[in-house]
Amino acid sequence: MKSLKWNVIWITGASSGIGRELVNQLAATGANIAISARSQDKLQSLADEFANVRTYPLDVSDANAMAECATHIEANLGPIDLAIFNAGVSAASTTAKPAAETFRTIIETNYLGVTNGLSAIVPSMSNRGSGHISWVGSLGGYNGLPGAGAYNASKAALVSLAEASKLELAPKGIDITIINPGFVRTPMTDKNKFPMPFLLEPDTAARKIITGLAAKKYEVNFPKPLVWFVKFLRLMPYPFFFWIVKNGLMPKQK
Ligand SMILES: NC(=O)c1ccc[n+]([C@@H]2O[C@H](COP(=O)([O-])OP(=O)(O)OC[C@H]3O[C@@H](n4cnc5c(N)ncnc54)[C@H](OP(=O)(O)O)[C@@H]3O)[C@@H](O)[C@H]2O)c1
Repeated sequence: MKSLKWNVIWITGASSGIGRELVNQLAATGANIAISARSQDKLQSLADEFANVRTYPLDVSDANAMAECATHIEANLGPIDLAIFNAGVSAASTTAKPAAETFRTIIETNYLGVTNGLSAIVPSMSNRGSGHISWVGSLGGYNGLPGAGAYNASKAALVSLAEASKLELAPKGIDITIINPGFVRTPMTDKNKFPMPFLLEPDTAARKIITGLAAKKYEVNFPKPLVWFVKFLRLMPYPFFFWIVKNGLMPKQK
């Protein structure tokens, strides 16, 4: 791990789950790590474990807070080499009984939380002509599935945003990586009552993410059987897609 060459890393959603495990593993590289989330107490307990981890609590849906945070990090620690915009929320949703608040919160956190991050750091990375920005989408971003419309739509937006950003930011010397995990055991998935095939532990997920980032891959996705399945579904003509989802993936109506 020590051979990885990042000096300053900013990670959002670092107070639990995948983000927390990323901090645990990246701290061993010796990089200075700025960690953000809303829960200051959880961030502090993590920072207390490492000399090179500092807390920057915020809500990612607050664009001004994100911009001020990036300025503070760069003033305190130096230029951000790598940003991992990982903060996210999930909730079941259905357009049969649309809950406006659920749709709003999910898009403000999962999607606008990332665009707020981009607004905060692209100008300084562009001026320097270098930097690496990544964000955590989901394999759910490849398909709309009943019960997960709000969440999957936010992640689909991130997939699309990454495709645009890669070519827009390459001339500025900025690399883009989209991270699309399958199921990972975290507080987010602990509440799920449905089967989660190929469920990974967070330390395994974090290792795969760091390996992909170090290789500057455009897309880091796992586990492969689930990746192939969602990408196969994406390619299906809609009559087949809807048949597979209705007969294989939808909870049975009672
Ligand atoms: N677990 C999975 O199976 C899975 C699969 C695919 C993708 N993902 C994605 O992976 C990312 C991390 O999820 P996780 O599974 O590790 O879930 P988690 O344990 O619930 O962690 C979510 C993190 O996001 C932070 N967060 C939520 N809302 C925020 C806000 N408004 N402002 C700042 N921070 C906020 C939370 O901290 P605070 O509550 O303290 O703010 C927490 O640190 C998410 O983007 C999620 O969608 C997870």
